This record gives sequence, structure tokens and C-alpha cells, in this order.
Amino acid sequence: MARLRLGVLVSGRGSNLQALIDACSDPDFPAEVALVLSNVAGAPAIERARRAGLPTLVLPHRDYASRAEFDGAVHAALADAGVGLVCLAGFMRLLTPGFVDAWRDRMVNIHPSLLPAFKGLHPQQQALDAGVRVSGCTVHFVRNEMDSGPILVQAVVPVLPDDTAEILADRILGAEHAAYPLAVRLIAEGRVRVEGERAIVSGGDWRAVPLMVPGAGA
Ligand code: GAR
Repeated sequence: MARLRLGVLVSGRGSNLQALIDACSDPDFPAEVALVLSNVAGAPAIERARRAGLPTLVLPHRDYASRAEFDGAVHAALADAGVGLVCLAGFMRLLTPGFVDAWRDRMVNIHPSLLPAFKGLHPQQQALDAGVRVSGCTVHFVRNEMDSGPILVQAVVPVLPDDTAEILADRILGAEHAAYPLAVRLIAEGRVRVEGERAIVSGGDWRAVPLMVPGAGA
């Protein structure tokens, strides 16, 4: 079966991109990275993509007169590359409603909290401030409201008494690197459908899918 072609949008470090690259390096994984696109020249993520021999494109957003023009260029590049699923992986630009609608149910994001808790900036600090005992990450389809949309995969990690935002962020990041490839695999296998604003996953063992605690025997 043809592999699902991913367009990965990045702005920074690119550790989630790396997790996707590593997953796709397995010939049995049902997706491949078709394009890595960044709005930031010199982003470490772009270097990771080059090292993996993947097609890259840098579109500095300041070169465009408006958000709509920038998003139009991104859309054209993704379409040219035959992308079937857009993966936001630390992409630090808000996308216009037209772009989000064009990729409805074909664009996913990862966020370092258990949504709908702690949307927006500094979710790890928000978790510490709220005193929660667990946090984690969420992979979800993208909607126009920030950090919302049908939830595909969540992974849980403990919040420990001595955590700083940095320590918690690192722990969550480890969970992200497992959750993102899992979400992509579920979509690529055709096991996800959106009903209302919920993503329904069919088949498989439910104990292995909606909840993971990496490092805790899972
Ligand atoms: C990740 O922790 C991701 O969840 C977060 O940015 C980081 C990117 O790291 N995204 C958001 O906060 C989106 N709201 P990476 O560049 O190493 O993948």
C-alpha cells in the first residue's frame, strides 16, 4: 500500500520531527516524510531533515506581505509535494482560517499538555502552577481555535514534587516522541474517523492506543 506522505512544519529544535523521521525509516511504517518546511532559516530542525536526506524548504514569513500570502505559499509547497497529512511539530506561526479549513482532518498538532487543559504558552509551567499530579501531551487534529480539535492520542507522565518547568518539559517530550508516530500510524492505517468533534479510532487494542505511560512498562 502507498505510504501516507507527510509534510512536517517546523520552526525550531525538531525533536518531534526526528521522532517522525526515525519512525518512517522503518519500511513497515505506513508513512513517509515528503517535505520538511520551516519559516525559520537555520532552524536545527531543517538541519535534521537535511541529514536524513529529506526534501526541505525554508519560507521566511517576513518575505510575505500578509499571513494569507505566507500560508498560500506553504499550501502550494505542500500540494506540490503530494502531501496527504500535515504535521505541525513545533511550528511557531498561527495559521489562517483558510489554511486550516483547507487541511481539515488532514493536519495534526502536538501540544505538551493533556488538552483541553493548559492551552497556549508555557503549558508545563501552567501544569506546575495548577498542582496537577499528571500531565503529558496530546496529538490532535487542528482547528481554528488554538490547541483545540479532535484528540487522537494522549500520553501521560507524572508530575513530581521537585519538578521545574524544564524537567517536566523533558519528561513530556519523551512521551511526545512516542505519541506522535503512533498518531500518524493510526491515521495512515485508515483507522481514524472524525465524528462531530471526536476522533474515533477503530481496531487494535484500546489499552495500547488512547493512553500510554512510556517508561512505566507500556
Ligand atoms: C514540543 O514540546 C511541542 O509539543 C511544542 O513545542 C515543542 C517543539 O519541540 N509545541 C507547542 O507548544 C504547540 N502549542 P521540537 O521542536 O523539539 O519538536
